[in-house]
Amino acid sequence: MTPTPDFETYPDDRVVEATASQRWVTVRWADGMAARFHHVWLRDNCPCSRCVHDVTKEQTFELDATTEPRPDGPVGVDGSGALVVVWADDGHRSAYHPGWLRAHRYDGPQVASPPAILTWDGSTPDLPPTFDGPTVLADDDVLHQWLIALRAVGFTRLVDVPLDLDAVGRVAARIGPIRETNFGVLWDVRSEPAPVTNANTDLSLPPHVDLCTREYQPGLQFLHCIRNTTAGGRGRYVDGFRVAEILRDEHPEHHAVLTTQPMARANRSPASDYRWSAPPIVLDPAGAVTEIRWGNWLRAPLAVGFESVEAVYAAGAAMAAVAGRDDLAIDLVLRPGDLIAFDNRRILHGREAFDGGGGERLLRGCYGEREELHSRLRVLERATRQAARA
Ligand code: OGA
Ligand code: ZN
Ligand code: ZN
Repeated sequence: MTPTPDFETYPDDRVVEATASQRWVTVRWADGMAARFHHVWLRDNCPCSRCVHDVTKEQTFELDATTEPRPDGPVGVDGSGALVVVWADDGHRSAYHPGWLRAHRYDGPQVASPPAILTWDGSTPDLPPTFDGPTVLADDDVLHQWLIALRAVGFTRLVDVPLDLDAVGRVAARIGPIRETNFGVLWDVRSEPAPVTNANTDLSLPPHVDLCTREYQPGLQFLHCIRNTTAGGRGRYVDGFRVAEILRDEHPEHHAVLTTQPMARANRSPASDYRWSAPPIVLDPAGAVTEIRWGNWLRAPLAVGFESVEAVYAAGAAMAAVAGRDDLAIDLVLRPGDLIAFDNRRILHGREAFDGGGGERLLRGCYGEREELHSRLRVLERATRQAARA
């Protein structure tokens, strides 16, 4: 079996034809699909044990800037249907698993954009996607279903999660490492006599993401309701990506400001002083929204050019108005055992005020990262493919 430079298993496609031209190789598979691969790309991706470490699957070979990789004569196909190239400069022989090669054609599935994000509002049915907590903790198939929903919708609920104070950490650890912050690994949300944040009062919290005061906002947030006997405190959840779409479509002048002008945020305590300035709607180079940075009670004094101050205030007010729209929101009273898990760089969350003197409201929370979610999903999908082929 021809090695691959990764931990995947690939279908047994066969290359049936391979021809080298001046700078690339054209490959045709048995079903007629064809793709071209540059010589330099092929040399760079040789999976042999001299080029890629057998155990780590990390590269040990580096391209030499002074030689241009070129096949030594015609390229071929071996008995297993793998593409074989022998290189002119040093006689090195490279063999490429035909399934791996097909998966890595330049416009193929490995390089295609990630699964589509489905934005939602208050009229979207069946929100939030809800899963049984104990089953998520025990069963990888249900874990997988939950994480697919978390990636696509960004906002999910588990029910009947055990009521111990560490349970939220066990749930988060199903995905990956927990992001520790100055609030701790796991933290409490409750009304306190000496709060370090407005979250630990009984005040209402307008829709926000947590820790927009940090250069790198936590990508995931988990909030587990342990006790709730107070009046009020209903939670509110809004798709920040939908908020961005509405601003783009209905208020393009504000959207232009919100995607370019930095807003300053600060989170200070006697022992810490976090600050960051960034536009509240962050776009990727293709113009797609990747991140919302919004937390109105953590405003720091605005510091933009004199000519921009009024436009930034107007745009910020427009964003707050859209984020506060009732028709965009899902409102939920959290019951003991409910655990809300969401993309903290996408979903705005908030709560109504509650009566901190009458009864008790305790949530336990922690943070994680989007990249841990994506990594866990890939590993679960790899296991599914391996099981299907076994
Ligand atoms: C928070 C928060 C929500 C709630 O602690 O940052 O948003 O329902 N809490 O108390
Ligand atoms: Zn090699
Ligand atoms: Zn919050």
